Amino acid sequence: SAERTLVLVKPDGVSRGLAGAILARVEAKGYRLAQLNLLTAKREQLEAHYAEHAGKPFYEPLLEFMLSGPVVAAVFEGERVIEGFRALAGATDPTTAAPGTIRGDFGRDWGLKVQQNLVHGSDSVDSAEREIGIWFAN
Ligand code: CMP
Repeated sequence: SAERTLVLVKPDGVSRGLAGAILARVEAKGYRLAQLNLLTAKREQLEAHYAEHAGKPFYEPLLEFMLSGPVVAAVFEGERVIEGFRALAGATDPTTAAPGTIRGDFGRDWGLKVQQNLVHGSDSVDSAEREIGIWFAN
């Protein structure tokens, strides 16, 4: 059924000038852009967004990375958009993400403690609603 998902273009995507190309792929797939914002995240926002990763070895590097520059936050809508966007994004590890996906085409390992993998997409209806509340407070 019709769903919403939160998409983030992470600081690597914005700083490399890929935000427009990434959003264009999602729109070209047929999903509707419903909300859009360019912002620098607040630490508390990231702590809420990434609560499930607290304590993992990549948690602090992940927060540092996500604070390192502006991100694009977007809400996309459509039938099965949650799984559809995750298919477009590709696997978490950009080195092995399939060519044809956002991460597979634009990403690679930069030898850092965090995977700089260009985008985030919600993984369920519940997390989408929770995450949209974090990034679009109004
Ligand atoms: P994301 O889908 O936003 O969710 C958590 C993020 O942590 C993930 O994308 C990657 O950027 C990063 N990440 C996940 N697993 C690892 C890992 N094993 N090593 C480094 N970074 C990771």
